[in-house]
Amino acid sequence: MKRYIQRYGASDRANHWVVAILFVILSLTGLAFFHPSFFFLSNVLGGPVWARILHPFLGIVMALSFVGLARRVWRENFIKPVDIQWLKMIDEVINNGDGPDKLPIGKYNAGQKLMFWTMVGSVILLLLSGFVIWRAYFAAYFPIPVIRIAMLVHMLAGFTGIIALIVHVYAAIWVKGTLRAMTRGTVDANWAKHHHPEWHKEQTEAK
Ligand code: HEM
Repeated sequence: MKRYIQRYGASDRANHWVVAILFVILSLTGLAFFHPSFFFLSNVLGGPVWARILHPFLGIVMALSFVGLARRVWRENFIKPVDIQWLKMIDEVINNGDGPDKLPIGKYNAGQKLMFWTMVGSVILLLLSGFVIWRAYFAAYFPIPVIRIAMLVHMLAGFTGIIALIVHVYAAIWVKGTLRAMTRGTVDANWAKHHHPEWHKEQTEAK
């Protein structure tokens, strides 16, 4: 019989999915503003006018929700010596070798941790540069060269965030049994033992 271990509570999952849904809407509408070939994507918020009005407000809600999510997981995302070992074995990780799984990995592996810190950096830059380029309320307070630099920063941070998201979703699907952590909140005990042995030990010894 399969045994399951709790990985996320209901409020962790609700928080994560609010961030995820808003991040995807912001990415799509951001792409619509970025290039005419993506213009049709403004329809996800009811067309270009509504997309232009709502994108910055939703950006603030996403950033605040992301702070909520980051507060729950930042401690487990500190880089430790074992993560450097894991990164040195990246070839094996990609080729599905089992060497990296023999390392004492805690709740998150180095790949997840790097994704987390990349997201932290992107969200901070998106928020700060977003205020500078928010024409309706704030842009008038900044000189034009500052607005132009902020526009470039916003575009680069958005691009980085989108790439990180694609890697994050790919990894969540690729490592079989991971998605249910964020849907049901539980993971198979064998999944935990295999991919996160140190965390599995903590969870089972604590019981
Ligand atoms: C849109 C599709 C998304 C899917 C399918 C997805 C899926 C998942 C899954 C399955 C986990 C659990 C991984 C584990 O516990 O080992 C997770 C964790 C997490 N996700 Fe997502 N996610 C998505 C979007 C996002 C976005 C947009 C962000 C942030 C901007 C995000 C941030 C996080 C964070 C911070 C964690 C905790 C892992 C860590 O801190 O290293 N996710 N996600």
